[in-house]
Amino acid sequence: MRIGILTGGGDCPGLNAVIRAVVRSGIQHGDEVVGFRDGWRGAMDGDTVPLDLAATRGLLPRGGTVLGTSRTNPYAVDGGPERVQATCARLGLDVLVPVGGEDTLGVAHRLASTGLRCVGVPKTIDNDLEATDYTFGFDTAVGVASEAIDRLHTTGDSHHRALVVEVMGRHAGWIALHAGMSGGATVVLVPERPFDTDAVVAHCEHRFASGFSPIVVVSEGAVPADGHLTTTTGQRDAFGHERLGGIGEALAREIEQRTGRESRAVVLGHVQRGGTPTPFDRVLATRFGLAAVRAAHAGASDVMVALRGTDIVQVPLAEAIARLKLVPLERYEEAEVFFG
Ligand code: F6P
Repeated sequence: MRIGILTGGGDCPGLNAVIRAVVRSGIQHGDEVVGFRDGWRGAMDGDTVPLDLAATRGLLPRGGTVLGTSRTNPYAVDGGPERVQATCARLGLDVLVPVGGEDTLGVAHRLASTGLRCVGVPKTIDNDLEATDYTFGFDTAVGVASEAIDRLHTTGDSHHRALVVEVMGRHAGWIALHAGMSGGATVVLVPERPFDTDAVVAHCEHRFASGFSPIVVVSEGAVPADGHLTTTTGQRDAFGHERLGGIGEALAREIEQRTGRESRAVVLGHVQRGGTPTPFDRVLATRFGLAAVRAAHAGASDVMVALRGTDIVQVPLAEAIARLKLVPLERYEEAEVFFG
């Protein structure tokens, strides 16, 4: 077979492990693998990278993606989908393996419905894809955020100041929830639960009263019950997403004003997405890559490989992108036991 592969959306630890697994197992099946540079942009422009065994050496622990990525949406470009189809036909590709989140896989689903064979691989540090229990990259992002919280506890306690840690996750609070629980945060704020600023301040005061300093973990998409989503530039990407950020700073100012204690915000930003994947993410990414090649050889299309329990399964792409996986109330309530 001739297999095409691309990585789209935000970079994510484990992308290179998927590429390596697809190439290594593809070669064992007698396949040829072609990479596209910068996601759907490369597929539209026919910008390719040959992927042989030598190209995969040293990839397993490497962060980012050697193929490059972009948030290009072919459906927002005149003739974009036709250009992708034409590239794949010209290269004689039997199947395309797009590795990405809801946006990249949404494009794959639309292309698959017009006849292009696609086997998707889920990726996102946000862990917000409903059809898979976990996406690779999430464990690494949580690890980075959790380590940051550990470090901030010591500086907060030394300076008797409140620290507000803003983490990524867009409209899902998984990173905040897991990092906050594992880091022993005083409060965790997620987009799924509009928060009451009075209650946050009360938790901070309680923590100060116990002789320790509060750490507030806030997801970039968290919203005060009486306020609105905080965005940075007001700009939207090609898929219509606003750039989130700024809630950490706003909250730190509010906490300082109301408690009279110095409060600082730390925005972890892209640090959460950078660097080497954890062993969990390396293994998951590798298993996804192997499963994608197996699915391709089994003739599958318009599907995504997914983790269910400890098994790798196939799910229809339509199901995979139907809705976001959000933090359920009962998971948030588990974290709430430790607030204050
Ligand atoms: O989807 C992954 C993610 O890191 C989100 O958590 C975040 O909101 C967004 O991407 C940031 O995207 P960019 O790096 O394009 O600003």
